[in-house]
Amino acid sequence: MKQFAPEYNINAEGWFKFPADAEYRKRMFPPEVNQHPAKANVYLVQAIIEYVSEPEDILMDIMAGTGTLMVGALIGRSVICIEISKKFHALQVAALEHLERIAPGISGMISLVNLPCQTYLPIPNLADHIIFSPQYAGILKKKSVTDQWNIDTGYDFVEYSKNPLNLGTMSEFLWMHEMEKVYAQCYQTLKPNGSMTLIVKDHMSAGKRVLLTDKAIKASVQVGFSYNPDEHFKWAAPGMPYTSARRARGELTVDDEDIVVLRKCNE
Ligand SMILES: C[S@@+](CC[C@H](N)C(=O)[O-])C[C@H]1O[C@@H](n2cnc3c(N)ncnc32)[C@H](O)[C@@H]1O
Repeated sequence: MKQFAPEYNINAEGWFKFPADAEYRKRMFPPEVNQHPAKANVYLVQAIIEYVSEPEDILMDIMAGTGTLMVGALIGRSVICIEISKKFHALQVAALEHLERIAPGISGMISLVNLPCQTYLPIPNLADHIIFSPQYAGILKKKSVTDQWNIDTGYDFVEYSKNPLNLGTMSEFLWMHEMEKVYAQCYQTLKPNGSMTLIVKDHMSAGKRVLLTDKAIKASVQVGFSYNPDEHFKWAAPGMPYTSARRARGELTVDDEDIVVLRKCNE
């Protein structure tokens, strides 16, 4: 088995320390992608790609945001990015044009799909590996969060997505049910021996830690994936601007983000 992120250090808690990716992003992506409030760290995504996949594999991000996974095409993987929001899909199109200038011909290895993942999937046996960070429940209903995003990014999140299939519009209860369906669609879309990697984070609610990662693992196992604690990593994620505001107010925050590799075992 490969080692995860061998070139990066870990902290005292055993969490990986991926560097801030602002400079890397500036080189690889156009400035407008900064309008997206929840981009994955490019070094983290690259480490996952290198850990789970090999050149020529087909990778898929089913909630692709700015399309960070496209960096996989720079190292010989084919990449499919699915995104519900028209605005974020447009960011991916701009990012792809930018990447094409850096690596001519790369567009041939990347497909961008502007649809809810629930209507596009499943496509049985299409992908070798699915890597994604789920949109969290109810986030688009929290005015304090969207207002903060508007200030930080200058972007209008009220229009973010009115589609009822957008996971961000769902209550936590509905979200869990919907995510279970999504994990099942991912399972069907993967080839035998494929993997689904979740980048997922617990959060605080009424002073208590909500164990979202545990719930995500349980739901994935329920639909057939195997979970191995040796393939469950953590990294010291910097968090969103509103997390720093909460920390500054002395409130408890979640500072670790989980990277969980779930496997589809040979049937
Ligand atoms: C956490 S962000 C992903 C960020 C991405 N990893 C990146 O690096 O830019 C989640 C994305 O899921 C999208 N989304 C929400 N519901 C969706 C759905 N049903 N199908 C596809 N995309 C969805 C949101 O618009 C958002 O851009």
